[in-house]
Amino acid sequence: MNKNATMSSVNNYYDVVVFGGSSGIGLASSIAFKDQGLKVLVLSRNAENNHELKTHGIDGKDFDIFNSDALQHLFSELQTKHIILSTSMPLQFEMVRDINLAQAKTSFEKVWAYLSIIKYAANKLLMLESITLVSGAIAKNNVPGTVSLKLMASSLNEMGKTLAIELAPIRVNVVSPGITDTPLYNQFSNKNQMLQDMASALPLKRVAQPAEIASAILFATLNKNVTGAIIDIDGGASL
Ligand SMILES: NC(=O)c1ccc[n+]([C@@H]2O[C@H](COP(=O)([O-])OP(=O)(O)OC[C@H]3O[C@@H](n4cnc5c(N)ncnc54)[C@H](OP(=O)(O)O)[C@@H]3O)[C@@H](O)[C@H]2O)c1
Repeated sequence: MNKNATMSSVNNYYDVVVFGGSSGIGLASSIAFKDQGLKVLVLSRNAENNHELKTHGIDGKDFDIFNSDALQHLFSELQTKHIILSTSMPLQFEMVRDINLAQAKTSFEKVWAYLSIIKYAANKLLMLESITLVSGAIAKNNVPGTVSLKLMASSLNEMGKTLAIELAPIRVNVVSPGITDTPLYNQFSNKNQMLQDMASALPLKRVAQPAEIASAILFATLNKNVTGAIIDIDGGASL
């Protein structure tokens, strides 16, 4: 394929594309990349009118990772060097006897959506240098009521290692946060107390800020010798 001919037909080049960059960890990462002078595109369901993104001069495009048709065409319309996958799902804390199976299945569907994104990206993105997945410390913990979250997060950890070998020299890394103060917990009326209670069980006994996780995402994305890593930023949760 003639790389120059293909690139000249692509109007939309971004250094970094952040799936889930309109809130929390993804937003902090998008701002940090932008502060490095990089051109950033955020893709999420409600990115185009996101006030924070506009304030920071970051482009946003409405995009749902579960829209498989849109996914197939996405990388025909844009090129990028770096992909960040940091979308969230509503938190589901249920013991297996009571688990809502339909909702639990959506955790698997997120893994499936990420696999699809990576497949299309690896085929279509001529300049792709890195993929950074965000998983979670729950992957390494055994906490009753978290089985669907654990399956999702541990799948992402394992996916990252295998794909780092398969896709090299494209680098694939995983950043694994612990308890981090983001809008993910806004579904709970006692959010602040809940975060403090969970943090009190950690060695560092603190709730992380999104910018602390973002710094690990920047490291994994921009350091050209890091691949296959799972970077734990979790206050010791996985010890
Ligand atoms: N916060 C924590 O304590 C914690 C701990 C461990 C792991 N993590 C992981 O870190 C990642 C980021 O979490 P966060 O805390 O930053 O969550 P967040 O504040 O809820 O942000 C999630 C982002 O995902 C986007 N999103 C959700 N569903 C989407 C979909 N179907 N398609 C496209 N975008 C979608 C949201 O934007 P729209 O609403 O506009 O779509 C938002 O930008 C998640 O994978 C989460 O599991 C978080």
